[in-house]
Amino acid sequence: MATEEHKHLADIIKNVHATLREEAQNYGPEIAWKQHISRKDILQKYASSMQKLATTYWVENNLNTKSSTYSRIEWIKSHCEEYFLNGEKQKYDTREDDIKSKIDASFVTTVPEDYNTNAAYKKDQLPKCYDKNTEKTDKICFLDVGSCYNPFGDTDMFDVTAIDLNGLPDRVLCCDFLNVQIGEEQILSDDKQEILQLSKNSFHVIVFSLFLEYLPCPKQRYLCCKKAYELLRDSGILFIISPDSKHVGANAKIMKSWRYVLSKLGFMRIKYEKLRHIHCVIFRKCVFVDVAIRWANLQKLPDDDPLYANDTSIYIPQDFRNESNEDKEQDNHKYDREELTFMFNELPFE
Ligand SMILES: C[S@@+](CC[C@H](N)C(=O)[O-])C[C@H]1O[C@@H](n2cnc3c(N)ncnc32)[C@H](O)[C@@H]1O
Repeated sequence: MATEEHKHLADIIKNVHATLREEAQNYGPEIAWKQHISRKDILQKYASSMQKLATTYWVENNLNTKSSTYSRIEWIKSHCEEYFLNGEKQKYDTREDDIKSKIDASFVTTVPEDYNTNAAYKKDQLPKCYDKNTEKTDKICFLDVGSCYNPFGDTDMFDVTAIDLNGLPDRVLCCDFLNVQIGEEQILSDDKQEILQLSKNSFHVIVFSLFLEYLPCPKQRYLCCKKAYELLRDSGILFIISPDSKHVGANAKIMKSWRYVLSKLGFMRIKYEKLRHIHCVIFRKCVFVDVAIRWANLQKLPDDDPLYANDTSIYIPQDFRNESNEDKEQDNHKYDREELTFMFNELPFE
């Protein structure tokens, strides 16, 4: 049964999301976002509530289960290991080369002059620590966006850059990913607690864990995915973890539309798993954009489906909900015991 404290924390989280969504509808997403990030006290309260929920209640609810099957953090760590240490990356390098050769064979004029150079460059992208014959000097460059409390900070194989709207001194750097500059090099503020600019093509891994659905508007979510693409090295990977306690088929159409939009950006989906409360997806930044786009071009899309109305929006189910129904629904279930035993029901998506 949910404790008073759990209900209180859940309320704080829900209220922040509800206010942001309401203001985005009333004033437009840009103005709403500016107002939101100016409320430092609210951001700080959200962060401490989220940390407590994530490290206490969500963990307690799953004590009897295998951690990697339920924990997003463990899922991400183990798949990074698979990809960089245990040969997955090379497998996808080869697959990408094969698809590229087929594309080039059918459209001879599209073969880029630097084809071979690109392939060689791609093979250099493994962090050195993952060559078991060499000293583990380099680590996986890992950007955790919307990190909140830096859950990956103590992981040896990662060199973590943890960013959030609300910084935590010396643990999480303050940065609004939606508006941060991207340039040749990373630039920090004088006190080294804020990121002013991130460096393009510099990360092996970017993580959006319970992050995208925080943003109230489909265009903002798309812009963040586009930024992730620019920041990743070739063949680097983007993890997207999204809350959803429904069965795997319930939001399959939404998941497919994400894959479609990200393919058009140059990402290939290489892993999808529905765990009990979350969707876990890995997208690889293709070395050859046309390999990624090929999947999107092969899809037969329904003409009138709003999910595919344009290529620059990432939707979540809440975007199609009538707000007044949503309010009623939330009131009816406010402290439904069942609801609070589900992880992540504090967050938008469902
Ligand atoms: C639901 S929490 C997820 C925390 C953590 N990633 C996890 O999996 O437990 C979402 C976090 O994203 C952060 N966030 C939202 N928009 C952001 C932005 N534009 N830039 C950086 N952080 C953002 C919020 O401040 C919040 O801490």
